[in-house]
Amino acid sequence: MTYIYRLAGDDLELAEADLNGFLESQKINEEASRNGRLAETESHPRQLKRLALVHEVSEKISEASTVEELEVEEVEGSFAVRKEAVADREIEDIEGLIGDEIKSEENEVDLENPDTVFKAYVLDDRVVLGRQVLDIDRGLFRKRSNEKRPFSSPVSMDPVLARVLVNLSGVKPGEHVLDPFCGTGGILIEAGLCGVGVHGRDMNNEMVEGAEENLEAYGIINHDIQEKEISRVETDGYDALITDLPYGKSSEMTEDAVNNFVDLIEEFDGRVVFMYNEASVGGLEADFEVYVHKNLTRYIFIH
Ligand SMILES: C[S@@+](CC[C@H](N)C(=O)[O-])C[C@H]1O[C@@H](n2cnc3c(N)ncnc32)[C@H](O)[C@@H]1O
Repeated sequence: MTYIYRLAGDDLELAEADLNGFLESQKINEEASRNGRLAETESHPRQLKRLALVHEVSEKISEASTVEELEVEEVEGSFAVRKEAVADREIEDIEGLIGDEIKSEENEVDLENPDTVFKAYVLDDRVVLGRQVLDIDRGLFRKRSNEKRPFSSPVSMDPVLARVLVNLSGVKPGEHVLDPFCGTGGILIEAGLCGVGVHGRDMNNEMVEGAEENLEAYGIINHDIQEKEISRVETDGYDALITDLPYGKSSEMTEDAVNNFVDLIEEFDGRVVFMYNEASVGGLEADFEVYVHKNLTRYIFIH
């Protein structure tokens, strides 16, 4: 069976990397193949809700260069066909055309609350028909945005971005992650919700207490957050290191914080994923650029 992922966001390469990191975290030894906004895998991973930049997942039924050539699937109960324009092409009444093929004495169309949702993805050169298996409620990320957390600060990271960093690390459930500049715990919340053990360090005790409060508000009771300056942080025993380096006026920082961090990761065996406000640091080049707002672009590094 082939699975189809409809990617979200403006940066489709980042969405693809989010998906591939997620596959690795599920111990799936396969990279997704991508065509524009659609990516496919042959494997069926668990924990699909962990994905940060995917709108929905479907099982592929068929694909063809014209709607007429598409093979449809028999279905009992109620169904609906919904189209998804993933390219700049329109096929008029594609839902009706496919619905007519599916319709039988065993089923009925219900556009409001169907048992089965078929998705018709219109690409530049072909049409793909799938049966939706998961509609990811991306609004759930907003429930964890800075202003919804018990402890907030201008340095807090957006939950979607934090989840992307966790996925890019490929960290698996049951493994352990360290965020040495944990701030309010934005990254640790997302890692903890993926079943990963969370460890945070920050030199500011207000952040340490705030991060603990935030983690507990989202049900992450097992945590290890300590007040520690980066030069005293130890990395033994962790599977991944994920962080957001201090920058700008809103983040208190010491002069050597970034250099000390670069030294620390040179000796670390596991995957390192971090954000910084410059495209290169300590001889490392950024892998992705993230536009935050008019005056702020940030960069993701995978080491
Ligand atoms: C950009 S913020 C991290 C934000 C975090 N990802 C969140 O979601 O809240 C950087 C953090 O690094 C901490 N920090 C700055 N310099 C430090 C140092 N030398 N050692 C340890 N922590 C430091 C700051 O207190 C701040 O909380």
